[in-house]
Amino acid sequence: SITPVLLCGGSGTRLWPLSRKSYPKQFVPLMGEETLFQASAKRLSGTGDALTFQSPLVLTNSDFRFIVTEQLMAAGINPGAILIEPEGRNTAPAILAAALHVAASDPDAVMLVAPSDHVVPDAEAFHAAVAQGLAVVEDGDLVTFGIAPDRPETGYGYLELSAKPSGSGLPVKLSRFVEKPDAARAEEMLAAGTYMWNAGIFLFRARDIIAAFEAHSPSLIAPVQAALADALPDLGFLRLAPGPWSGAEDISIDYAVMERAPNLSVVPFTAAWSDLGGWDAVWRDSGPDAAGVVTSGGATAIDCEDTLLRSDSERLEVVGIGLKNVMAIAMNDAVLVADLSRAQDVKKAVDALKAKG
Ligand code: GDD
Ligand code: MG
Repeated sequence: SITPVLLCGGSGTRLWPLSRKSYPKQFVPLMGEETLFQASAKRLSGTGDALTFQSPLVLTNSDFRFIVTEQLMAAGINPGAILIEPEGRNTAPAILAAALHVAASDPDAVMLVAPSDHVVPDAEAFHAAVAQGLAVVEDGDLVTFGIAPDRPETGYGYLELSAKPSGSGLPVKLSRFVEKPDAARAEEMLAAGTYMWNAGIFLFRARDIIAAFEAHSPSLIAPVQAALADALPDLGFLRLAPGPWSGAEDISIDYAVMERAPNLSVVPFTAAWSDLGGWDAVWRDSGPDAAGVVTSGGATAIDCEDTLLRSDSERLEVVGIGLKNVMAIAMNDAVLVADLSRAQDVKKAVDALKAKG
């Protein structure tokens, strides 16, 4: 069986104004009625085709703890445990805490670590890919899932395959893991044709990821172990101890372990996948019409091209005329209007507003 580990501590600033500090994107119904977090939890639950999932282990911060329990209950899922991080230290400490927690009862337990803000519409295809990964997990490999790249994206990790995938979906050994390259490097890797994007989903045994931390990021072990040893049970949550936790380096799993570990395999994943990182991704994933237009809520587009118009407010109608390459997102208390190609800069808006206080 598999222990799902759901990461949902991120703040999703590039999807402002829909995503807020107190209510980030993974908890908002972004495309449909369910939230991305609920969809992720459901995808990793129950007894699937070839797989059996245990109750999930959820890692989040204090602000989101009741949103997490409410949304899991509404989705009909019982959490196994909810670990509360006193402050966000990125994914490496969070995943190490999860692994130590899981290993305390079973070091051989297989963990499937997944973000809660991705769109993976075909759960069956995903389960089939995970089942392929299980074969090499037994050899002690750390398994990643690879997406065929279609643009020189700099916001993702790149996986260099040691051989061409056979098409059967079998795992392939990795030669190299390159996290978030610069634009020139991304162009090169796209042109080379031997790279895939890292989907940001990982499969491994608890003991193997702990061994990888010991080998490649040993300084994280002591603070995370201490934070777990002194953790306080609180109303069904397990609060990691703030003192030791603050001593853990703020670093992602990609830099802390994946770029350094030799025992990586990738399972190519060919069904649809998207990290809804910014409004351009929402636009691309919402199925633009022939003119490239996406509207939702009370929004109307007249003679527009490659444009996203969205009203998440009952009070506001949004109308665009003759627009090209524009996004406009209206909420009751905030409106964002921007060039669609500047989607990655929305976090600058959040920084600017923060600075204004
Ligand atoms: N619990 C917890 N605590 N979760 C966190 C924290 C934290 O401190 N920081 C981030 N997360 C969660 C986010 O909410 C998200 O679900 C997931 O961990 C990944 O973090 P991101 O910040 O979204 O990473 P990224 O998208 O920049 O890069 C990662 O994902 C890409 C694919 O989406 C990397 O793994 C890349 O290599 C990969 O291509
Ligand atoms: Mg992400």
